[in-house]
Amino acid sequence: MKRSTWVMFGIAAVLFAVLLPAWAISREGGGDASPQAVPASEEEGKELFVTNCGSCHTLYKAGTDGIVGPNLDDILAPPSPTPPDPSTISPRVLSAIENGVEGRMPADILSGPQAQEVADFVAQVAGDR
Ligand code: HEC
Repeated sequence: MKRSTWVMFGIAAVLFAVLLPAWAISREGGGDASPQAVPASEEEGKELFVTNCGSCHTLYKAGTDGIVGPNLDDILAPPSPTPPDPSTISPRVLSAIENGVEGRMPADILSGPQAQEVADFVAQVAGDR
């Protein structure tokens, strides 16, 4: 075989040996939809959301696809020419968490700082499709 053929083979081998596992590892497990990358400051809120809310709610940035409750991207940030304002969304989410909704979403799934963290996370990413 020509030398250049070996070089090409070597490159292909490296791609498979290194990049494929790196790609597989970088993907997070859990959930059927694929979780999207979020800034480190939102990572904890995201984890809390995936664990406590994701089974009922779809939120693109959290990679969840629950259908018991409404799609939070759709109801909190409906398509609009102006971007949604997180500071108006966060209190709405917090109120849903603390009080429940219509007796169909249980109250107090989370409380205190954790509730706030999830509310801030949802407010930041809702509508980020
Ligand atoms: C057991 C399923 C379930 C879980 C778990 C759940 N929800 Fe809900 N959620 C619902 C349902 C059902 C509704 C819609 C109630 C209705 O409109 O009748 C809802 C509604 C909402 C709303 C809309 C309120 C509004 O202003 O219209 C928000 C925001 C929300 N949930 C956020 C969350 C967050 C954040 C969590 C996690 C802390 C969570 N939910 C966990 C079922 C759930």
